[in-house]
Amino acid sequence: MASREQFSSRTGFIMAAAGSAIGLGNIWGFPTNTASNGGAAFVLVYFVMAFCLAYPALMAELIIGRHSRSNIVTALRFISPNKATRLLGTGVGLYGVLIASLILSFYGIVAGWMVAYLLEAVAEMIGWSEASHWLTGFSFERNVLFMGVFMLLTMSIIASGIEGGIEKWSTRLMPMLLVIMVALIIYVFTQPGAMEGLRVYLLPDISQIKPALIIDAMGQAFFSLSLGVGTMLVYGSYLSNKENLPKLGVAVTLVDTGIAFTAGLLIIPAIYVAQHNGTTIFAEDGSLIAGPDLIFQILPSLFDSMGEIGVFVAFAFFALMTIASLTSSISMLEVPVSLAVEETPANRRQATLIIGGLIFGCSTIILLSFETLFGFVIDLTTVYSQPLLGVALCIFTGWIWHRNNLLQEIKAGHPEIEGTWFWKVWPGYVKFFCPVLILMAFFQSVAG
Ligand code: TRP
Repeated sequence: MASREQFSSRTGFIMAAAGSAIGLGNIWGFPTNTASNGGAAFVLVYFVMAFCLAYPALMAELIIGRHSRSNIVTALRFISPNKATRLLGTGVGLYGVLIASLILSFYGIVAGWMVAYLLEAVAEMIGWSEASHWLTGFSFERNVLFMGVFMLLTMSIIASGIEGGIEKWSTRLMPMLLVIMVALIIYVFTQPGAMEGLRVYLLPDISQIKPALIIDAMGQAFFSLSLGVGTMLVYGSYLSNKENLPKLGVAVTLVDTGIAFTAGLLIIPAIYVAQHNGTTIFAEDGSLIAGPDLIFQILPSLFDSMGEIGVFVAFAFFALMTIASLTSSISMLEVPVSLAVEETPANRRQATLIIGGLIFGCSTIILLSFETLFGFVIDLTTVYSQPLLGVALCIFTGWIWHRNNLLQEIKAGHPEIEGTWFWKVWPGYVKFFCPVLILMAFFQSVAG
């Protein structure tokens, strides 16, 4: 076997893992979840969920990945002590690969819309209003075209491998994302109405706290940290033994929650600026409009109302969304591609082409019966499968994997860890606490 690729540096890994974590879930999902769940109360519960539940699960993936240095299927087989658990590992792993691919098939559609709106801003700048009309109309042709363009971008990065693809592009795109976001926040803060939005975002409205809030916060944390499907596992498998895993995990969690919080400083005030400029921001039942209408109607009408500078703001905003999507989508495609490269004769280019083509086909089917399939696939993957896969990975880490090997792996790159609380708390924590808590929240949400 050819020697396995690795991230070239710690920063490279953090950029890639943060790039995976930071996506539409942070910039769109988190702020709107916050707004519809009572503001700062949700932020608080989200932080607790991210550090107490998602972080331990993230660590499980990173540790399994680096120890077995392989894709999720091979990794779960590798840490299994006997035939039955190897079979279970294969099943769980393959299910994870399937869910990662399905997540990409709906994510690619949404990201395609971002690309279309990005080009719409360009069309406006050069006075091409006919094209601009087509770009923002919801047609099957437009949807397939831009989903396809986005998939090609994703595939071309993955085909170039770890250091020359994932690491190189994450390291270029993530700083850009931060700069665009900060520039947009500064601009929105100067607009009338922004401070009202800031108040809604930062002042907790206790009356809105419902049980659904805790479940929403958990789902949000799992999606945002890309957990359960083997994304973080495979990124961990490209990490050097010298790295201190618990610390890297904290860095990724901190960056992810930090960016989600910062995105809220942009989106919520922007919604209230739109209201100030005459746009309706509440649905008939009095809730804040949070779905696709927010991104594709409320914000565009805000950009329109800004005058000359509006198209530039629109361009910056959709560039931000496209970049965030791309550094996430590559991490989803890497899951099936790493399996194919390691377990079949296909090389990386061939594997990327075939799997990318299959996922393109899946997305096209979803677009063909959009009304029935789109919401269904999102629920199937993020509401039902991700938490259950998260539980399965905790069980593999806590119950199936030999405890000494687990402890050896944590020690690698951090020999003095035995004195830390991580060493004392985490192994038992993923064994009992995490699975039970995730399952409780899961049954709550399915029952509700
Ligand atoms: N975390 C990304 C976001 O917030 C999405 C994402 C990337 C993801 N890889 C994943 C979600 C794997 C689930 C599983 O948008």
